[in-house]
Amino acid sequence: MIVVTGATGALNGATVDHLMDRLPARDIAVAVRDVSRADRFAARGVEVRRGDYADPATLADAFRGADQVLLVSASDPGADAVALHRTAIEAAVDAGAGRILYTSHQGAAADSPFGPARDHAATEQVLAGSGVAWTALRNGFYAHSLGWLTGPWRETGRIVVPADGPVSWTAREDAAEAAAAVLTSDGAFDGPVTLTAGTAPTFAEIAEIASDLSGQRIECEVVEPEEWVTGAVAAGQSEFLARFTLGIHLAARDGFFAGVDPLLGDLLRREPRTVRDVLAGAVPATP
Ligand SMILES: NC(=O)c1ccc[n+]([C@@H]2O[C@H](COP(=O)([O-])OP(=O)(O)OC[C@H]3O[C@@H](n4cnc5c(N)ncnc54)[C@H](OP(=O)(O)O)[C@@H]3O)[C@@H](O)[C@H]2O)c1
Repeated sequence: MIVVTGATGALNGATVDHLMDRLPARDIAVAVRDVSRADRFAARGVEVRRGDYADPATLADAFRGADQVLLVSASDPGADAVALHRTAIEAAVDAGAGRILYTSHQGAAADSPFGPARDHAATEQVLAGSGVAWTALRNGFYAHSLGWLTGPWRETGRIVVPADGPVSWTAREDAAEAAAAVLTSDGAFDGPVTLTAGTAPTFAEIAEIASDLSGQRIECEVVEPEEWVTGAVAAGQSEFLARFTLGIHLAARDGFFAGVDPLLGDLLRREPRTVRDVLAGAVPATP
């Protein structure tokens, strides 16, 4: 049996949809914080269990009978993500899981300027010390994030960033589908695996794509980081979010998101979606 956490979220919910296309429902269970939001899985015969990393007492039953457990990376702002992940990993080990999979991030590194990348690196260390086979699905940066990271370029003709660098922007839908392929691959993937689109354009290159698609000249402007934060706050963003976003750009500038890997395309048996697809509206620009 495969137990999937975070199935009421976008990524792992889509992974369960793909699993249901590949496996009988009795071989899948979801462990979610709010079971009332998992009706669509129950309706198709998937067992719905309650499981909250912040409530360890729920996890023994949530992971019961699992051959594999797919853990979503926790997302609540302000939470100690690594502590939550450690709790979940220990519970999966105690439940006798044969493999633990985790939704990590391309660019997971202890020295990244992007906070979640440091949490992912620390979580992978916990997995490596768990004594159980593990797979870290290092997903590329969600391509739909470009919807807010590039700002209102259609109106202003400008994409303004505090630093520029290559990012292997990847469709969340593609990462979800690939996770289902990995889960049904009989343990062929061990340790960190990188799931990215095939190219890693800079914001300057994204401005070129935007120019091409819109038929108007879109400029990419790189401004001083503190000037950029001041501008973002003046435009109504919280300073916390502005500095969080600055971390993304600095990590990109330093090359943390530059790597690409053909594995995603191999698993999908087609080309992953591209930045051009996203900017053209072929990928929903959800937050
Ligand atoms: N690769 C990227 O670019 C990128 C970008 C943003 C985020 N992420 C990471 O990828 C993860 C999945 O992305 P997503 O788009 O599916 O996010 P999402 O739609 O917000 O889903 C996150 C899921 O995690 C669950 N969750 C959060 N804290 C939990 C806890 N303590 N115990 C159990 N479940 C918990 C949430 O449960 P509820 O449904 O009950 O809220 C939700 O189902 C995110 O959580 C985040 O860590 C990656």
